[in-house]
Amino acid sequence: MRVLSGIQPSGRLHIGNYFGAMRQHLQLQAEHDCFYFIADFHALTSNPDPADVARYTLDVAMDYLAMGLDTEKTIFWRQSDVPEVTELTWLLSCVTPMGLLHRCVSYKDKVAQGLSPNHGLFAYPVLQAADILIYQSNLVPVGADQKQHIEVTRDIAVRFNHSYGRIFTLPEGYIIESVAVVPGTDGRKMSKSYDNTIEIFEPEESIRKKIMRIVTDSTPVEEPKDPDKCNVFALLKLVASPEELADWETRYRRGGTGYSEAKKRLADLMIDHFKPFRQKRAELEQNINYVKEFLANGAKRAKAVARETLEKARQAAGLRK
Ligand code: TRP
Repeated sequence: MRVLSGIQPSGRLHIGNYFGAMRQHLQLQAEHDCFYFIADFHALTSNPDPADVARYTLDVAMDYLAMGLDTEKTIFWRQSDVPEVTELTWLLSCVTPMGLLHRCVSYKDKVAQGLSPNHGLFAYPVLQAADILIYQSNLVPVGADQKQHIEVTRDIAVRFNHSYGRIFTLPEGYIIESVAVVPGTDGRKMSKSYDNTIEIFEPEESIRKKIMRIVTDSTPVEEPKDPDKCNVFALLKLVASPEELADWETRYRRGGTGYSEAKKRLADLMIDHFKPFRQKRAELEQNINYVKEFLANGAKRAKAVARETLEKARQAAGLRK
């Protein structure tokens, strides 16, 4: 199957990104043909600082490379290096009813959060549909918040195919449910916009400090604690072995163990979890040209596929030579 997903370049990846998406992206490589790209066109909808767009794009590429992206098998590129996708966006826009976009909650959420209601933000799902359809993707792994965008994509594909013939494969969403269970240091969902993240590759000491500052309730050491209400325990679930986790659960419920003990262990486990990849990440940082070449090569491979679909769609819509 052809698997495709886009990653927004919003900074160095944090453990919420890792356990919420990146880990699954990397695992899917073993059994499928994976197409992953850095969604820089999408990033522009929130009007970021231009220097950040450029920097974060490289950061995301380095994070994926360091964590084990298969550079032979997987196609990985920067969205804007294949501008064919914007042309397809136009063709799709012309079969997309306004009502379909008006119903998208992600647009409303972003405007409620204070983003400017620009046209790019409103048309965001059509660009996303073009991303998915231009590569004839079968499976799209995304967080639950993106489920509606996959439905919109299918709807647009059906409309286009109905009008012009069977051009696009209908994709299926593969919803990664775990997104919700990665709390940030303040207990809300880990997210750059809440400033509560722990980056995969930030200095070890800083990871430790942030973990020691995770918000917990004020239950005294001696008293029993509810693991299901604890942010530290929620993070332990991600990195502790099942046996060790069971042991922590017992200790929580029995009382006599303080949160700081759990935090110390969590910091050790979290640091160990990413340790094998740190060296590679540091090397990449010293070799930006390699990273740029890697992206350029991915763009070349992606473009070949994109062109083929775009040509079919153009022809079908009557843009014939
Ligand atoms: N909208 C996605 C997100 O915010 C990123 C994205 C852009 C994407 N294009 C895509 C995801 C195509 C899957 C498929 O996470």
